[in-house]
This record gives sequence, structure tokens and C-alpha cells, in this order.
Amino acid sequence: MNKAKDSKELILMKPFMPPLEDFQPYLERIWDSRYLTNNGPVHAEFEQALCDYLGVKHICLFANGTLALMIAIKALDLKGEIITTPFTSVATAQSIYWNNLKPVFGDIHEKDFNISISAIERAVSPETSAILPVHVFGNPCDVFRINQLAEKHNLKVLYDAAHCFGVELNGESVCNFGDLSVLSFHATKVFNCFEGGAIICHDERTKNYIDALKNTGLDPNHKLAGYGINAKLNEIQSAFGLVQLKYADRVIACRKAATDKYRALLKDIKGLRMVDEMGFVKYNYTYFPVIINTEEFGASRDELVAYLEGQKIFTRKYFYPLVSDFPEFSFYRTTDLSVAKRIADQIICLPLFHDISSDEITAVVEAICHKAPR
Ligand SMILES: Cc1ncc(COP(=O)(O)O)c(C=O)c1O
Repeated sequence: MNKAKDSKELILMKPFMPPLEDFQPYLERIWDSRYLTNNGPVHAEFEQALCDYLGVKHICLFANGTLALMIAIKALDLKGEIITTPFTSVATAQSIYWNNLKPVFGDIHEKDFNISISAIERAVSPETSAILPVHVFGNPCDVFRINQLAEKHNLKVLYDAAHCFGVELNGESVCNFGDLSVLSFHATKVFNCFEGGAIICHDERTKNYIDALKNTGLDPNHKLAGYGINAKLNEIQSAFGLVQLKYADRVIACRKAATDKYRALLKDIKGLRMVDEMGFVKYNYTYFPVIINTEEFGASRDELVAYLEGQKIFTRKYFYPLVSDFPEFSFYRTTDLSVAKRIADQIICLPLFHDISSDEITAVVEAICHKAPR
């Protein structure tokens, strides 16, 4: 998160905080009960409320999305290689590494920056046990073709849905696709619990197993269900999540209005491309990425970022660098990554948060226009 140094600076993102008085009764309840963690009553309430809000069957709450990804891989008992995208948070690949498995990086689609279906096909080897696609910036992957590929090669599918709170495909939560999906409730996300995460699964047996794994492997009968870790979400954060949930629709609506305004103002700028929205998707407007084509725009992405920073407008080169370009991940197998490399060099996420004003959006666009050819 960028931090504003003075009131004239325009930050990249600002976490939504509900009114403090909404939180107070939960704090009193927790103080009275002394139930602080370990699957407490507020945690149970939050799980149910999330299932209802998102339209999913089972949710396991986590301290953060990275631990949820690590446990999801463990729960699926994956082996060998996992095909994933290099255009993601390093957390995606770290979760594979922490399971002692190998990430294999596939190229991405130009249109939505998600892992390319043909790249997945090219990356499959006898060692592959799963596909770990990321719904990048909340734009859903082609879940139907990924499912077909997984069936054809007998692979599991684990979605990194960290950006996907509330995203729906044809009226159904995008988290209902694949074997498991993982959400992040990090402070920078559309829906935050300061920190937090979740695994969405489809049956009670898997939920119980995952719940044991995140509780150092111990099940409610104090038997060891497997090799686990402590990754639980506590009562305070669960309470905060319950309060946040009341405002989720309003927050997303504000972000949609801001996104619509950006789209209208930016649409005629040569050399600047936005991701097309698909009619059958309900978006959460989590980021506003644009692609800068240096030749057509007349300046490179880096020049634009530097210029905006000079105007005190803070953007982010997200995701840059590619995960496969970090030395620690550079020796794993990849397909040709030419699209991912180009997008990582051209992308910029513009400031977007629930209460960004119309004037602030206009100021960002005017600054971009100043750099663009007229
Ligand atoms: C795509 C992606 N995956 C995983 C994570 C990890 O989530 P968390 O920060 O909650 O551990 C993030 C968050 O930053 C992310 O953007």
C-alpha cells in the first residue's frame, strides 16, 4: 500500500474501514466471552455469513491467503510439478515452494492476463499433478476449458482467487469452480480483515480435513489428520469481517462507479488499452490496470509512472517483475513467456479505492493525457 505523505498526494489504494461504532459491540462480546480464537462463535458466524454472501457451500477461514494456498496444496496431496502463471503475486509460487513442489510457469493471454490455455497444455509433463491458475485482477479464467484440460490430463485445479471476492460467472461464484479456490482478505483487497484468507471447498469431509490442517493438523478429537500448521483466523478479525460484509455491496458499487468514469475518460487515448469487461461476469472492480504501448502512446510505462509520481499520483507496476524473473524462481521450467514479459513491462494500475472522487479520477486522466500525444 502506498501511503499519502500529504493531502495533495493521490495514493494507489485505501482500505475500506467500517464505522468504529459497528465494531464496538463485537469487541464487547469477545471481551466478555474470552473466546479469542480456535474456531470460536464469531468465527463460525463469519463463515456462515460468507457462505451466504458469496453463494458457496463451505469456507475455511485463514490468517492470510498465502497460508490458505499452502494448505490447499497440502489438502489436495499434490506431487511433482504445478503449472501456474508468472504474472501473479510471488505468494502463489511461494506456496508451491513451501510444499517442496516445483512451479512450472506458463505464458498468459493478452486479453485478460490470465494463464493461457495453450500454455497449460504445452507445460503438462508426466510430473504434473495440478494447475494453479490465478484470476488476475478479478478477471475470471476460462474455467470451462481449464476444467476440460484438467480432466484430459487427470490434474487437480486449485484457483488462486485472491482478487475475486464477490466475482460471479453467469450468476455463480467464481470460487465454485475447480477443486479448491483461495481468497485473500489482505488490507489491500476489496474486502479486508486487516489480514485474512479462505479456502472454498465443495464437501464437508474436505472442509473438516482443511480445518484440521490449519489447526496444526489436529482434528476436534485431538487426532492428527495430517501435517498441519497454525493458520487460523481469530475472533477479532472474524468480527471485523462480519462488519465489513454489511458494506461489501456499497464498496463494490463505489468502485464500479470509479471504474466506469476511468473507462469513459480514457477510452480515446491512443496507445492505452483497458481490459474488456464480459457481460456474463459480475466484477468486483478490485484494480484498474491499463497497458501502455510505448510507440503508440509516445512514452513508455516507466516514463509515465515517473511523470505521474512527479505529479504526486502514485500508481503501481503490478505484476512486475514476473515471478519467474526473481532469481529464486528463475530456474524452474517455463513455456515461452513472451506475452507475460511484454505485459509486465507495459502494465500500470491506476489509483482506485471506494471513495476516490470524480475530481481525483479526472486529475489522474489529465496527467496521463499530458504525457499522451494530442
Ligand atoms: C494473486 C495473489 N495471490 C496470493 C496472495 C496472498 O494473499 P495474502 O496477502 O492474504 O497472503 C495475494 C495477495 O497479496 C495475491 O495478490
